[in-house]
Amino acid sequence: MYCQKFDNIFLCNMAFVWKQFTRTSPSLLRQSLLSTASRCHSTERPVNPGDGFVGKDFLTLRDFSATDIRHLLWVAQDLKTRIKIQKERITPLSGKSAALIFQKRSTRTRTSSETGFALLGGHPAFLSASDVHLGVSETIHDTAKVLSGLVDLILLRCDKHEEVEELAKHASVPVVNGLSETFHPLQTLADILTMKEHFASRYASLDGLNVAWVGDGNNIIHSLLMGCLPLGINMRVATPKGYELFPNVAAYADLLANKHSTEFLVTNDPLEAVRGANVIVTDTWISMGQEEEKAARLKAFEGYQVTSKMCEEAASDWVFLHCLPRKQEEVADEVFFSPRSLVYQEAENRKWTVMAVMLSLLGQHTPTTEQPRF
Ligand code: CP
Ligand code: NVA
Repeated sequence: MYCQKFDNIFLCNMAFVWKQFTRTSPSLLRQSLLSTASRCHSTERPVNPGDGFVGKDFLTLRDFSATDIRHLLWVAQDLKTRIKIQKERITPLSGKSAALIFQKRSTRTRTSSETGFALLGGHPAFLSASDVHLGVSETIHDTAKVLSGLVDLILLRCDKHEEVEELAKHASVPVVNGLSETFHPLQTLADILTMKEHFASRYASLDGLNVAWVGDGNNIIHSLLMGCLPLGINMRVATPKGYELFPNVAAYADLLANKHSTEFLVTNDPLEAVRGANVIVTDTWISMGQEEEKAARLKAFEGYQVTSKMCEEAASDWVFLHCLPRKQEEVADEVFFSPRSLVYQEAENRKWTVMAVMLSLLGQHTPTTEQPRF
């Protein structure tokens, strides 16, 4: 389903950017990004936001417009308000089933998607790497074809992003990326919802908010860039030398920043990123699958631990986010366990946001609560 569901013009633009990136000088690249950005204006999705999701894949926020992202966040907030606070029973997924395949460990993504799908009336089937033939004695192609006849939605946590793309290409049901080496879009939706909840009483919208990343150029920051820049959130990214963003993701983020008049800064200086930040975000320095690089990474990331001293450079209302699981080396206890840390609220929001995604891909859900300003 993946190919049909991509916006073809958008894909061509991205291929164009990638080719330019590998072949041309920085100034020519910038020119090409700017001209691509202006052409991208024609690819905005329909004005009726809820209409566009049914049957789509959710592989990266790169494939969704600012309107789409705002809509998903509205659905998430609507579900949280109605189910958690108003104790409403909402079961539109009755009779639907989902295969949730995890080829890597998970606490939050597994629990939020499994309990969330069930809470909406559906039947989730959790499949660990040792439960399925995928990647061992069965191809992605065959798994996609078989599961499409058995369930209504597939969620996959995998290593290479190409694996979830391949699954989506051959599946006839929606495929959700539960984390790949390149992107973790479900996490970003929870992060933005958390920012919105926290800053709602202070700012009219998230437009103009400053977010600082201090850490590895990994899947979490890649997705934050794809989700935040379209909403007008300024992104300042500090990574150690040699651990920068993937070049194609950075090039695309540059394009988004130009398109949405948002700031996108990359640096190797954590203090430059944190200066004036309303939100400071980090993640583990050693992602799943990188365990053998631990010694080299601990050395390369010296000076990158988020500490109270570092946060003195931030805006007076700064808060801290972390997707979890957390290790002490990337953030000191004094920050992680402080009142500025929103990490557990962020973790809970994983549930409402993944529910919003699964529900939107499987059938239209019309929120009944007022649309928030993001
Ligand atoms: N943040 C996150 O995705 O956590 P899990 O690895 O526990 O799913
Ligand atoms: N960057 C981490 C995120 C874990 C949720 C990893 O990929 O392991």
